[in-house]
Amino acid sequence: MTMTTPTARLARALPPASAALLADALAGLAGRPRTLPCKHFYDKAGSLLFDQICELPEYYLTRAEARLLEHHGDDLARAIGASGILVEPGAGSATKTRALLDRLPALARYVPLDISAQHLHDTAAALRAAYPRLAVTPLVADYSQALPEYEALHANGAPVTVFFPGASLGNFEPWEPDGAIALLTRMRRLAGPRGRVLLGTDLGVDPEAIAAAYDDAAGVTAAFNKNLLVRLRDELGAEVDVDAFVHEAAWQPDHRRVEMRLVSTRDQTVRLAGRAFAFTAGEAIVTEHCYKLTAEQVWTVARRAGLAPARCWLGPDGMAMHELVPAVRAS
Ligand SMILES: C[S@@+](CC[C@H](N)C(=O)[O-])C[C@H]1O[C@@H](n2cnc3c(N)ncnc32)[C@H](O)[C@@H]1O
Repeated sequence: MTMTTPTARLARALPPASAALLADALAGLAGRPRTLPCKHFYDKAGSLLFDQICELPEYYLTRAEARLLEHHGDDLARAIGASGILVEPGAGSATKTRALLDRLPALARYVPLDISAQHLHDTAAALRAAYPRLAVTPLVADYSQALPEYEALHANGAPVTVFFPGASLGNFEPWEPDGAIALLTRMRRLAGPRGRVLLGTDLGVDPEAIAAAYDDAAGVTAAFNKNLLVRLRDELGAEVDVDAFVHEAAWQPDHRRVEMRLVSTRDQTVRLAGRAFAFTAGEAIVTEHCYKLTAEQVWTVARRAGLAPARCWLGPDGMAMHELVPAVRAS
């Protein structure tokens, strides 16, 4: 006889992205500290909110990285190779990527990879319209899990570059084996023995600018953070008073990270899939860590993932682009 719990019934009825959100929410809300993984910010609404964040005066990261890509675009395009393959995990709207695509008219293929399926397909359509001769083959995948083998990438021998801008490495715990090291290991495998990883990070040079970037005056980051609760309510049928949580972002200098949280403003109970999670006033759900590693720390993490730092380009406001190559190259 099989047991049918409310959770199992709900999970079976959900599309895969929502079922993953449910599993992570049930585990994360029961933990201490309570957590919700930041990858679940990104449904279509979350992706559009992130695009708005990129336009905010406080969010220096996107503008500074775009300037870095423009300034060093010729060098980066040469590293990718005129007829190479470009794979971009977490491509989002791929706006900054255009600085590279503009310089690579004979690129063999561009593979934007993202967890936010609808937004990814919209991005691919926009790029096909802008670059009609470019093969754009989007891949819906979660890069925090094992990535598909994707052997076809390496079939014609073109060098593969994994382009990972946006300082997203900082969302992974740098010193835990299943965190940033595991992520870069997956990227090394995706690039293959003759490929490379172009990794964009924020060296975190100005704590005041960092604090403002994650807690903007217009409240867009707050809405982005709260989108996690909106998803629980609208996609999973959770009973949750979204307005009874507030957004917080704290710079934690000892860890060199921003911690984003959703803090309950009163005692309340969140109900999800037949489970009850009692919150006291002031209790938080940790939703994201954004580590701001020094260049040396990034290279240490890279080496542990079997990648050797080859070059590093610096941009404004502490943005850096690291070229990492497999420590053991194919002969
Ligand atoms: C901070 S945004 C960066 C977007 C863009 N790369 C940039 O630099 O502006 C993170 C992007 O990665 C995607 N993403 C986040 N976690 C992911 C995961 N685990 N697997 C795949 N995509 C993910 C999001 O949907 C979003 O498009």
